[in-house]
Amino acid sequence: MEPSATPASSPAAFAPPSGFRLLPGFLDAEAQRHMAAAILAVLEQAPGYHATMPKTGKPMSVAMSNAGRFGWYSDREQGYRYIERHPVTGRPWPAIPEPVLDVWRAAAGFGHEPECCLINLYRDAAKMGLHQDRDEADFSAPVVSISLGDEALFRLGGTTRRDPTRSFRLASGDVLVLGGASRLAFHGIDRVLPGTSRLIPGGGRINLTLRRVTRP
Ligand code: SIN
Ligand code: FE2
Repeated sequence: MEPSATPASSPAAFAPPSGFRLLPGFLDAEAQRHMAAAILAVLEQAPGYHATMPKTGKPMSVAMSNAGRFGWYSDREQGYRYIERHPVTGRPWPAIPEPVLDVWRAAAGFGHEPECCLINLYRDAAKMGLHQDRDEADFSAPVVSISLGDEALFRLGGTTRRDPTRSFRLASGDVLVLGGASRLAFHGIDRVLPGTSRLIPGGGRINLTLRRVTRP
C-alpha cells in the first residue's frame, strides 16, 4: 500500500467553528488558588447538587451550583432552565466573585456583565456528554469557561451533532471562549485525569461557565 494513500474512509477534517478561542495558562498558580478559594466559599453558601435529566430523571455525574442572578438547573419534570434560587436551600445565588468577573471582562469582548456562573464539580469518574448551551434568551454574548484543578479531555464539535469532533486537554488556569459561530458548538467532557493537580481539596476539577441569560 502506498504510504501516502488516503484511506477512502478517512473522517472529515476537524475545523473549530470561528469565534472559538483557547487561552492556555490565562490564570497563573496564585490566581488559580485565589479563585478556587472564592468558589469554595460560594459552595459553602450554595452547596452542590446533582441535577437530573429531563424526562428520564437520571442524575448527572457532575455536581453543580451557581453564582450570579440566575442559576442553571434541570429536573425530570421541567427540564433545562434558569432559576433565581438554590433548589435545596431556597436562597438567592451568591454573587459572582470579583476575580471571576475580571476574567469575563478581559476575555469576553462583550459590554455587559455575565448573569450566571455555573459551577461544575467533577469528582471521581464524572463527565459531561456532548451538548450545546442553548437555554439562554440571546446568543450574541459568548460563553467563557474557566478550568481549575485536574486536567480534562474536552471535546469540541461543530454546530450540528453530526459534525466531526476533536478532543484536547484543558489544564488548570486555561480559559475557553465560545463566541461567534462557536457559541452554539457541541462540546462536552470525555473524562477528567485524576491526580494531575492538587488545587481542589479532595481532588477533582472545577469548571466555571460564565453566561449572559437575558438580552441586554
Ligand atoms: C459545560 O459545558 O457546562 C462544562 C464544560 C467543562 O467542564 O469544561
Ligand atoms: Fe456547556
